[in-house]
Amino acid sequence: MSPTRLLLFGLMAIVLYSSVSLAQDNSQLSLDYYKKSCPDAEKIVREEMECAVHEDPRNAAGILRLHFHDCFVQGCDGSVLLDDTVTLKGEKKASESLNSLIGFELVDRIKNQLESRCPGTVSCADLLAIAARDAVVLVGGPYWDVPVGRKDSKKASLELANADIPTSDEGLVALITKFSEKGLSVTDMVALAGAHTIGMARCTNFKARIYSGDFQQTSHYNPASALYLTKLVSTCPLSGGDDNITPMDYITPTLFDNAFYESLIRGDGLLNSDQEMYSTFIGFESTDLVKKYAIDPIAFFKQFSDSMVKLGNITNPEGGEVRTSCRFVNA
Ligand code: HEM
Ligand SMILES: *[C@@H]1O[C@H](CO)[C@@H](O)[C@H](O)[C@H]1NC(C)=O
Repeated sequence: MSPTRLLLFGLMAIVLYSSVSLAQDNSQLSLDYYKKSCPDAEKIVREEMECAVHEDPRNAAGILRLHFHDCFVQGCDGSVLLDDTVTLKGEKKASESLNSLIGFELVDRIKNQLESRCPGTVSCADLLAIAARDAVVLVGGPYWDVPVGRKDSKKASLELANADIPTSDEGLVALITKFSEKGLSVTDMVALAGAHTIGMARCTNFKARIYSGDFQQTSHYNPASALYLTKLVSTCPLSGGDDNITPMDYITPTLFDNAFYESLIRGDGLLNSDQEMYSTFIGFESTDLVKKYAIDPIAFFKQFSDSMVKLGNITNPEGGEVRTSCRFVNA
């Protein structure tokens, strides 16, 4: 090889090498990912969210939960948004999601706006992460900066959705295990469960607590709970009505605050999984955290923000694409 050729070869090697390491850097999320390609991305999401939450605050809860269910299955990759097709089995029929997840039409609306302003640029996974932050802010919760740069998956996993998403009848050990498998600590879990300060749950998810579980006991000594129990019984009859809904934070159902933790201390947690974090005798750490967030809303807001960034940082190592429609992989 002549010296010039050698030099050229060397240069090419350097260019190749640095583009490879750049690609690796790209898998890390950053705050300025869309700064050049879609500077108004956050503004576009925010406008649609403002409209939707103003119309119905439940929309905030729906979007926040979608982001959680997205990140717990294959990482935050928009997999939760995929519809079933002939060739793809989506996650929408997972036991915790079927007849339960809401907000897909709102996601479509936001995606349409993003596509008309910045075609093929902003991933559905990032859309959800930004919209979840806006949802929280719009109902009175904390603001945090949302790192972006996620890619949308070309696959979904009904099996993982069934296996990994926590359920309301689980005990503390099972819950802690599911979170730790995602790299989230007990502190993250207790703070993130504070999301239940907004939104609704269906009778099917707490009926056992009313008719045979904890509420029967607490009502003996807690007059406030007795009243609450009466209300729950009227919403959820012993037989039927499984899809009737009631707020998880009955004090301030549409406000993102720390009243949810106060209700756990009273024994009025609607979901067994939430009550476990305070009541179970092995839960030293989680009990203390519940007490802390119940008296210190600022500590709760700070931890919730940090834990949401950690939740949103769960990646799908397979990478992916930027979907044009959040419901289908690109043709
Ligand atoms: C700790 C484990 C968790 C369990 C066992 C759990 C379980 C549930 C259940 C059973 C419901 C009611 C669904 C229905 O009845 O249809 C619900 C609703 C909700 N969850 Fe969780 N969840 C957990 C953690 C989280 C996390 C980490 C977030 C978000 C950061 C979240 C956000 C929500 C929201 C906002 C709703 C209300 C949705 C609506 O109103 O449509 N949850 N959750
Ligand atoms: C996000 O994940 C990357 C690894 O993929 C890690 O280096 C970084 O520290 C994480 N950031 C947060 C806030 O957890």
